Amino acid sequence: ISRKDFDGFKKLFHRFLQVKGPAIDWAKISRPPEDSIQPYERIRAKGLPGDIAAALNKLVVVKLNGGLGTSMGCKGPKSLISVRSENTFLDLTVQQIEHLNKTYNADVPLVLMNSFNTDEDTKKILQKYSHHRVKIHTFNQSRYPRINKESLLPIAKSMGPDGDSEAWYPPGHGDIYASFSNSGLLDKLLSEGKEYIFVSNIDNLGATVDLYILQHLMSQPQDKRCEFIMEVTDKTRADVKGGTLIEYEERLRLLEIAQVPKAHVDEFKSVTKFKIFNTNNLWISLPAIKRVYEANALDLEIIVNPKTLDGGLNVIQLETAVGAAIKSFKNALGVNVPRSRFLPVKTTSDLLLVMSNLYSLEAGSLTMSQRREFKTTPHVKLGSSFTKVQEYLKRFENIPDMLELDHLTVSGDVTFGKNVSLKGTVIIIANHGDRIDIPAGAMLENKIVSGNLRI
Ligand code: UTP
Repeated sequence: ISRKDFDGFKKLFHRFLQVKGPAIDWAKISRPPEDSIQPYERIRAKGLPGDIAAALNKLVVVKLNGGLGTSMGCKGPKSLISVRSENTFLDLTVQQIEHLNKTYNADVPLVLMNSFNTDEDTKKILQKYSHHRVKIHTFNQSRYPRINKESLLPIAKSMGPDGDSEAWYPPGHGDIYASFSNSGLLDKLLSEGKEYIFVSNIDNLGATVDLYILQHLMSQPQDKRCEFIMEVTDKTRADVKGGTLIEYEERLRLLEIAQVPKAHVDEFKSVTKFKIFNTNNLWISLPAIKRVYEANALDLEIIVNPKTLDGGLNVIQLETAVGAAIKSFKNALGVNVPRSRFLPVKTTSDLLLVMSNLYSLEAGSLTMSQRREFKTTPHVKLGSSFTKVQEYLKRFENIPDMLELDHLTVSGDVTFGKNVSLKGTVIIIANHGDRIDIPAGAMLENKIVSGNLRI
């Protein structure tokens, strides 16, 4: 494993040293042609597969599970955080796929791409699913050395895993192509007749298997086979940092904010110029992955991620993104899907939404409650006292009713009693040294609550 990791790192580092100037020439960017990003409705209009089980049996669900829950103050894999009714991201994923397999009498396996940070804890938990109707496979992504920003030398003192834990990192989800191929699992799945993988972030609760997109992939004639679909969705002001699809040198390409020259960042963020962003829900042909990887034709743009370690040392880690490979596949397509397919949980503000009565849970899938009149989700901003999941949970006796909420901002030392109802725009600000306890049963509608002042 170390040898393969080292070879991979050597290639990446070599490419990093060779890159001169920006990877993108802004003048060469153009809007993708009309038919290269299709509305979901057009895909849906083509209908369901004639034989759903047969189509599903060619599919593999892959979840990117290399990340930790540190940004929400949790130890261990992010996928093991409880998100709804004691269910973790992983529980919900297993329930979704099991439901699919049972409903259609199919055999869709789940593959987890773990990292050295998540593998051990994830494997311990997997035993609990042994009686579920879903085969679970795992493979590990690579482990690369962080490098000193000034000297560009690795900071690790040895290759061993027991050394300094800050010296190594998982090199982003673009690593999937190399590590999936190197693990032998890609060949195994191909030999079982699998044709496509559906890849998504494990923290995106909206990334369920969509039978219409599957049918679109399966129904193309062999010579026009679409090898890569990226699900994109309309950008709002909250998503300005997400990657977008552009046309570049006659190919569809993912443009990430990190690749944008400083002078064009505002233009990149504009919701009118770049209207959609990547949800990271991707459908990729398995034989095509094998072909492209073996031909060494991936050439994923390198994302240089600067970090400051605990001791104050400045390092960089070289990463790549899975979606950046779109340019290397034939007949690649963007599909503009409804926002509901993008439901990521990155912060406790997101967690509050998915735990609330805005959503109902059925067979591992969350759907927006029929009782909400607007189809948009409220905008929630919880302050720093809520950042860690443990602290956030202590501050709510139970999750408030949010069916009629548009906007919630909470800052400072604030707690919520049982059965609170929030409607319209609610802003609660406890100044430094103050504490605000919203009493049980309170109904706040278009209210600003600040210190002792109630308006
Ligand atoms: P992140 O949560 O770290 O990234 O990972 P992000 O900024 O929100 O999303 P992107 O990168 O723009 O898409 C997203 C998913 O990728 C996994 C995480 O576990 C999560 O499911 N991931 C990330 C890996 O599996 N390996 C990595 O090296 C990085």
